[in-house]
Amino acid sequence: MDRIRIIGGARLNGSIPISGAKNAALPLMIASLLTSEGLTLENVPRLADITALLRILSNHGVDYSIDGKRPGAVQTTGRTLHLRAKDIVDTTAPYNLVSTMRASFWVIAPLLARMGEAKVSLPGGCAIGTRPVDLLLMALEKLGASIDIDAGYVIAKAPKGLIGGEIDFPKVTVGGTHTALMAASLAHGHTLIKNAAREPEIVDLADCLIKMGAKIKGAGTSRIEIEGVARLGGARHAVLPDRIETGTYAIAAAMAGGDVLLEGARPELLQSALDIIASTGAEITSTNEGIRVRRNGSGILPADISTAPFPGFPTDLQAQFMALMTRAGGVSRITETIFENRFMHVQELARFGAKIRLEDDAAIVTGVKTLKGAPVMATDLRASVSLVIAALAAEGETIVHRVYHLDRGFEHLEQKLVDCGAQVERLAGQG
Ligand code: EPZ
Repeated sequence: MDRIRIIGGARLNGSIPISGAKNAALPLMIASLLTSEGLTLENVPRLADITALLRILSNHGVDYSIDGKRPGAVQTTGRTLHLRAKDIVDTTAPYNLVSTMRASFWVIAPLLARMGEAKVSLPGGCAIGTRPVDLLLMALEKLGASIDIDAGYVIAKAPKGLIGGEIDFPKVTVGGTHTALMAASLAHGHTLIKNAAREPEIVDLADCLIKMGAKIKGAGTSRIEIEGVARLGGARHAVLPDRIETGTYAIAAAMAGGDVLLEGARPELLQSALDIIASTGAEITSTNEGIRVRRNGSGILPADISTAPFPGFPTDLQAQFMALMTRAGGVSRITETIFENRFMHVQELARFGAKIRLEDDAAIVTGVKTLKGAPVMATDLRASVSLVIAALAAEGETIVHRVYHLDRGFEHLEQKLVDCGAQVERLAGQG
């Protein structure tokens, strides 16, 4: 397994192109199962999770091709992916494919809506909590599906097609809302989703479904209405920029100091996080090209955060923000309200000399003057990148093990950091 070696201390100066959002690209790719016509997605990032989902979609009968490089395209230009599910050849998503990535469970919605049946293994994914699928299944039942669980598989059936209904989520769920949107688009009649997730990735999926012929109103609010249609057609859609990648590099620049332009980033996708990062002493400005983050000379100020569904502070930036707070001039309190077990990075940050104490659903971070490089390893994607952020500001050498977590969600991470002057290299093989 590859490792990443980082020598801390360099400031970050330069431009970082922001990639297409992983968490938008995944449901968009899954939406290709809803139609026999072609779906073309632009600005798709090169990530292990995308490759894994392509394997799963192929298994259901999706043909795909990826455009070669165009003149002027650089390594970080997003790819264009052509997907076509002319015929669904298999409505089963097996354990060996689904177990590695939770989002792949969402294929249940288009398979059921288009074919009247789906058999999908219960999901796996990052180790950040129990992450049940009860709300996704509740949504499908509200649309008339029968659901059975047998030998680790969910068997969903709606032989006469799905029927519009009212889905009232007791808790905001991104996956539940994606699933409900896709299923209701092909259901007979009207569906109302209450307490829907408002994340930008939901809006991106809804925009694409609308291009495919779906009738959806209210995406981006907590009340979405869908009028089902008999069939959906092909479309072309560009994946929105990755707000979590944007926030991660904004925090990295705030941590290491320097002056970085996050090219193509859109501030409205992560305003609450940008406000908090600015409150720690970084200067953040929006430009025509993206978001500029600067911290020159000033110390890092402490700040309390509590994660929340959009438009609140994203749970997917909690670990990175905690890394920043380890060097703040004071105490900060970081409360995680979305996932019950998303503090796996705490013990790894401690290896750098960080002072963090856990108290129920909060981490109390007492900033220290110096972090020291160390060998570290993380168990999930965002936790791994928090270790990279700590390493950028730590004295000496850090080796980050289990880099495959980073490869799942950060396109060309080392290259983007090296281009801004960081000392980062990938060591192939072993450990
Ligand atoms: C999405 O996961 C993201 N994944 C996650 O990003 C992100 O952390 C999360 O939303 C919250 O923003 C993708 O988009 C691929 P949820 P999802 O359903 O949809 C509970 C990353 O690092 N819940 O909004 O799985 C659940 O346990 C990943 O990129 C139920 O109880 O999250 C959690 O506490 C990690 N029952 C809360 O709801 C259900 O049936 C929110 O989860 C479903 C969810």
